[in-house]
Amino acid sequence: MLNDIDRILITREQIAQRVQALAQEIAGTYPDPNRGLTLVTILSGSIIFLADLIRYLPIRMKIGLVAVSSYQGATTVGSEPKLLDQLHINVAGEHVLIIDDILDTGRTLRLVQQQMWSLGPASVRTCVLLHKSGKAVCDVKADFVGFEIEDAFVVGYGLDFDDHYRNFPHIGVLKPELYERQGSG
Ligand code: XMP
Repeated sequence: MLNDIDRILITREQIAQRVQALAQEIAGTYPDPNRGLTLVTILSGSIIFLADLIRYLPIRMKIGLVAVSSYQGATTVGSEPKLLDQLHINVAGEHVLIIDDILDTGRTLRLVQQQMWSLGPASVRTCVLLHKSGKAVCDVKADFVGFEIEDAFVVGYGLDFDDHYRNFPHIGVLKPELYERQGSG
């Protein structure tokens, strides 16, 4: 696995520190711990981030999962995202915090934000672990951002290429020849 990584961008120690600080920022935004928060998590890249984040959040919460197609198979080129699976919990009147692994063009977050607002929540905010600066094609901003990163295809800590590397503990840049070889990048 390590042979496929060009370089490590963010170490597991840096991630752990930042996730804890992010949780504090989030907790400060929702000062009443009993009011309740629904974390809507975009599968599958966010699962490790979610698992770590929630253990630093002393807030009454529910977790909902949504599946969005954007990168499928051995590709690093996103397509127009589609909602594949809907949330099965009621968010009407609830504070919603959307959790995603990475904000790139912004299309995925925009789609899920629109979907959430249509369900009548009290508020919708967004939290991403990574933000690729300057890539947004639509006016979408995350309220909470872990790290600003360069425009490179990254894997690890839940992020994948063709469903691999999610268990790589750091965030690393994938060697471009890996996806170029497959004729998809
Ligand atoms: P958009 O362009 O809609 O992209 O903001 C968000 C989704 O695209 C995936 N994505 C990546 N996945 N490494 C990955 O493993 C990357 O560098 C990368 N860039 C975008 C991701 O699923 C995210 O939710």
